[in-house]
Amino acid sequence: MSEGTAKKEEKPRKFQAIRGTRDLLPPETALWNRVEQTAHEIFMTFGFGEIRLPIFEQTELFARSIGAETDVVSKEMYTFGEQDLSRLNSIHHALSSRLSEGSYLSIIPWFEAFVREVEFAIKEDHILQPLPNGVTIEELRKFLASCMDYANRPINELEENEKERQIGLIRAYLQLLETEKLFTLRPEATASVCRAYIEHGMQSLPQPVKLYYMGPMFRRERPQKGRYRQFYQIGAEVLGGSDAPAIDAEVIEMVMTFFDRLELQGVQLDINSIGCRECRPKYVELLRAELFKVKDKLGPDSQRRIETNPLRVLDSKLESEQPIIAKLPRVADHLCEDCAKHYAAVKHQLEMRGVLYRENWRLVRGLDYYMRTTFEITAQGLGSQNAVCGGGRYDGLVELLGGPPTKGIGFAIGEDRLILSLQESGKGPVQQGRDVYIAWMGERAQATAVRAAKDLRKAGFSVELPPVEQKFGKALGQADKLGAKYALILGDNEVSEGLWTLKKLADGSQAKFTEPDLLDHLRKSKPVSS
Ligand code: HAM
Repeated sequence: MSEGTAKKEEKPRKFQAIRGTRDLLPPETALWNRVEQTAHEIFMTFGFGEIRLPIFEQTELFARSIGAETDVVSKEMYTFGEQDLSRLNSIHHALSSRLSEGSYLSIIPWFEAFVREVEFAIKEDHILQPLPNGVTIEELRKFLASCMDYANRPINELEENEKERQIGLIRAYLQLLETEKLFTLRPEATASVCRAYIEHGMQSLPQPVKLYYMGPMFRRERPQKGRYRQFYQIGAEVLGGSDAPAIDAEVIEMVMTFFDRLELQGVQLDINSIGCRECRPKYVELLRAELFKVKDKLGPDSQRRIETNPLRVLDSKLESEQPIIAKLPRVADHLCEDCAKHYAAVKHQLEMRGVLYRENWRLVRGLDYYMRTTFEITAQGLGSQNAVCGGGRYDGLVELLGGPPTKGIGFAIGEDRLILSLQESGKGPVQQGRDVYIAWMGERAQATAVRAAKDLRKAGFSVELPPVEQKFGKALGQADKLGAKYALILGDNEVSEGLWTLKKLADGSQAKFTEPDLLDHLRKSKPVSS
């Protein structure tokens, strides 16, 4: 069989969106736009400015901030290399194993090969220059020359500590490259906002800096209703300045105002304080000790978490574990004085703002950067994935990423879930029909129709102009299907008389108008909201 025949017989492949991702289509996208527009408007009134962030960042940024042991970092991230760095990787590997053997002389040729490969990779744009910490390839080369210098000296002339210093430096260079070459599709945006705060020296702006963002995030989770691998968040962060409880309360007030404006139904705000670096470790130890006493009665997940992260046991939804969890010590009873005061003040500030909340001592959140205030908001119609918003305070995260000591608090709304809940409660539909369908017949009428469409669109009406002539009956049927409010009928008679027929499709009534009168009439009858 010739190649051509084989190609012809091959069944065309059907492509489908990857599981966990989806297309958002009209008319639903109109609702997404309305939600996003409302966020822009409400957040602006609270003094927030929009930040647009990259979709991918260095893997290390997420690993360090969200925490290497969390589900997100350990299981759910989409991580990839910049380019084909396989040769560099194999040299890297060989060099690393020689480093662990510690034989100085055998390291030098590998290090030389390594630098050559790095040079090549930089020339080909496979890795970006400078390396993290601003190290340039020239510095790497200079360092190699000094290594060669050492290598050429008789081994017994070298001081042991000099050798160790050199090996230490080589190791540091290796690590720089290791972290540089892996990127991850953002699973969330708080880490990126903190990175941007540091990178742009925002600590020198008036504090606090208030930023919001919206866009897709990526997590490799098991897809189900309200849980996707590409999902969308609308989030906000307040960075710098003080950790005054009024900031916590105002951030929460802002989300609640937003949900209120959208008429989201069944909104429930849960809050908690999970303490600080002082008091939380003591509570975690106490919890671990208590959990050990009941280990046999717990499921395998919780048993494992006693070791890795006992706080996460409190998240368990397993029916059989509920009575056990209910008897565990509660974090609120073990907060240090400062944290207890802060928590009490946050509650007071919420009350002052008329924000209704429920205290939930089991609300610990799944990301490592949180401290003190944590909160979650649920809404109706979402089944098991009913959290539409999660957030909390993360003082110290900016510092952990190499910036100055900085206070921080924020939240992220799951936009997919928000939309789902609005649709379930009937708040979803946004009108999508056309205002005017132009039914034209005849060449002269087409020219008039094109001009009419232009004028109507300029006046803000949505207009459907059929590309080819249709019989009036068919045109009116089409107008109906598209949900048009009016059909503008343009035939030879209308054009020569200068009187256009406008038919109201809801009741079939029709009237004749001159061109300027028609625009006037339509303007007057257009409801404000459409
Ligand atoms: P998070 O709790 O991981 O927090 O996510 C926030 C919200 O994003 C969740 O409540 C949920 O509505 C939505 N979400 C998360 N994963 C998925 C998914 N796979 N499919 C659909 N929706 C999802 C954060 O991301 C933090 N960065 C929030 C934050 C900002 N904390 C402080 N500042």
